[in-house]
Amino acid sequence: MKSNLILGIETSCDETSAAVLETPYRLRGHVVSSQDEHSLYGGVVPEIAARAHLRSIDAIVQKTLKDAKCDLNEIDAIGVTVGPGLIGALLVGVSWAKGFAFGLGKPLVPVHHMEGHLFAPSLEDHDAQPPFVALLVSGGHTLLLYTSKWGEYELLGQTRDDAAGEAFDKVSKLLGLGYPGGPMIEQQSVQGCDRRYNFPRPMLKTNQNLWDSEYYDFSFSGLKTAVARKVEELDRMGVLEQRISDVAASFQATAVEVLCEKTMRAVEEKQCFRVLLGGGVSANSRLKKELAKKLSPEGVLYYSSPRLSADNAAMIACAAAFRLQEGDIARPDLSADPNLPFPGLKERLARVS
Ligand code: KG4
Ligand code: ZN
Repeated sequence: MKSNLILGIETSCDETSAAVLETPYRLRGHVVSSQDEHSLYGGVVPEIAARAHLRSIDAIVQKTLKDAKCDLNEIDAIGVTVGPGLIGALLVGVSWAKGFAFGLGKPLVPVHHMEGHLFAPSLEDHDAQPPFVALLVSGGHTLLLYTSKWGEYELLGQTRDDAAGEAFDKVSKLLGLGYPGGPMIEQQSVQGCDRRYNFPRPMLKTNQNLWDSEYYDFSFSGLKTAVARKVEELDRMGVLEQRISDVAASFQATAVEVLCEKTMRAVEEKQCFRVLLGGGVSANSRLKKELAKKLSPEGVLYYSSPRLSADNAAMIACAAAFRLQEGDIARPDLSADPNLPFPGLKERLARVS
């Protein structure tokens, strides 16, 4: 099969990124620029994010093309994240990609950000192909999917409130550790005792049956509130400083346990011992270690290196290559959609009793 050169563009949150992918898997150029300015505010400020994308996107694409030693006219298609994400941030990438595709007369392929995360591990490990159970954990989403083939996704569970990454970010803020919270919590946890505090394990009752919606769904806001209460209590007692790492470790252990348990429920139900971890939270070492342990010896766990588990345009180019093959080409009136539905996502079939 002839390989294509795909230019991927990602601007859904606070990373401006471009990639040139020679299909199927050769990354010829890849630049990711993280906007550090948000750490001052303890979270991403949408207006600042959009303006920063606007300032840097041109230079980032030029550098990527230069690294890829690729001439503009050699690009076969442009893939861009259309949603979900911050509207102002998305619009920068989408408008830029539209102009670029129109100017070059090349097809523009719209990509769902989370489908990008699903494709990321396959860039480094070409065996990371369906069928698999996928746990996608990012700052905005927590999705448990059964993927029988690319483009066909059965939704098993999702969060009912905060996303997993959001919980890490909020707990980090409560502990005064800064943004983004995931890496800070992970770092603090190394010195902490993960059994010091027994936080509630949301939606993990043992008497749930397979057809309760709670069986696969997640909820992290109660856990965050329990941590907030504990932080207040320790603060009142004047011992918070000494206990920060214990709180971080106990929270991380709880969140990871819930994520692993739900994933293993899907493994059992589907009798599918191949699991794919994606999204920013998949950089978490404890999550990877616990899940790998639970899957061993017969199961296999796929995940990306931290560079490709965080937001990046390589995964967007990879998902775009698949979507291009499917004939998903944008119409000229394409716009960004902050609430874009996951393509090919089917609700779980209810059991007929
Ligand atoms: O996928 P991503 O880069 O952006 C979104 O699509 O949201 O995910 C970002 C999230 C943040 O909430 C961040 O705190 C979390 O991923 N994260 C982590 C780790 N590294 C990043 N969470 C836990 N442990 C980590 N090591
Ligand atoms: Zn993401």
